[in-house]
Amino acid sequence: MTFDFDTEVNKFGINSIKWEFMFDADHNATHGDHAHPKHGNERMLPMWVADMDFRVPPPVIEAVVERAKRGVFGYCMPTDSYYEAVINWFARRYGRSIKKEWIVMTPGVVPALNLMIQTYTQPGDKIIIQRPVYHPFTFAIENNGREVVSNSLVLQNGRYQMNFDDLAAKAADPAVKMLILCSPHNPISRVWNREELTRLGEICLENDVLVVSDEIHCDLIYKDVTFTSFANISERFAQNSIVCTAPSKTFNLAGLKLSNIIIPNEDLRTRFTQTLACTGLMGTNTFGVVATEAAYNFGEDWLTAVMAYIEGNYNFMRDYLAEHLPQLHLMPAEGTYLVWLDCRALELTPEERKKLIFEDAHLYLDEGEIFGPEGEGFERFNLACPRSLLAEALERLKTVIRHR
Ligand SMILES: Cc1ncc(COP(=O)(O)O)c(C=O)c1O
Repeated sequence: MTFDFDTEVNKFGINSIKWEFMFDADHNATHGDHAHPKHGNERMLPMWVADMDFRVPPPVIEAVVERAKRGVFGYCMPTDSYYEAVINWFARRYGRSIKKEWIVMTPGVVPALNLMIQTYTQPGDKIIIQRPVYHPFTFAIENNGREVVSNSLVLQNGRYQMNFDDLAAKAADPAVKMLILCSPHNPISRVWNREELTRLGEICLENDVLVVSDEIHCDLIYKDVTFTSFANISERFAQNSIVCTAPSKTFNLAGLKLSNIIIPNEDLRTRFTQTLACTGLMGTNTFGVVATEAAYNFGEDWLTAVMAYIEGNYNFMRDYLAEHLPQLHLMPAEGTYLVWLDCRALELTPEERKKLIFEDAHLYLDEGEIFGPEGEGFERFNLACPRSLLAEALERLKTVIRHR
């Protein structure tokens, strides 16, 4: 089956955060049609939040439509067929054996991270993250009164690496109780390999640090790259970790608010479900269950096709920059549909860069600084869009950079 990722889909009138809203520095949202094609070259091109601009796999649309036609939307819970779909997906693709009782459903990975922080750490405890990293990790830690410790990634020979000496020193602090791993890593598009994960896992075990492995991007892997789930490396790691999974990035289902948190360790699981019970969150989103089951059972061809298209976008962007904007450097990507653009050679302050990109080029990207001070001078670019939009965005960048 072929899929059309080239045609721009109408994303207006669907409450899309990416396309219909703008946020100011204080996170206040304004609704508008700033990205509507009717504004022509003046329209804002949103290439920020991690949503795809593509329609989801056809079997998912069919399943949701059929469910909607039934016309009853009372409380719902998943049945065995749901769990089988999840278990089979991870067994088929990653050789992971997950037991049904290990799966705890939450309305998103970010809510789950907040609840884990509340469950396994105390106010004042320290939690390691590896900046530049997905910024809600920082919010979750700080909003819950815990302290961020950054085991910052280092750029070596043009590739981001983990700093294991620094990690060992920081993990040895008895106040450090948890490490939140981003695997694959947003925003720098690395897919951590078995050796890197093993070194990290051993350091955490030696120091009694619990590993929360956010693997929400695990299905979005470039050709010739292998994804390794942290918990798959050894039983010891599985017992000292929690793996966060979701169909939301893989199949563009984020608005359906459903994630599967995998907790093999019984004690950790009981404590987590107790915290979850205290939120009063019961049951699940009807459409989330239907869509997840359909996606995991029938969405694999679509996923293969969409990743090939995204990798094509990456190659297109890399070649375009090499030819027209060699001062911008696109970091090598191994996974996710987000890419990390090194703009440091422009020698602009964050404010000057924001003006150039947002006000002059009318591009809505994610400034590197939001991922931590280590992201200064970078921009995160979302490639999950029709190639024509990417081409337009790059043309705009070229124009404003050449005329500045
Ligand atoms: C690493 C990572 N974790 C979690 C999320 C969001 O998870 P959810 O929408 O399930 O809360 C994102 C979204 O971009 C992400 O990149």
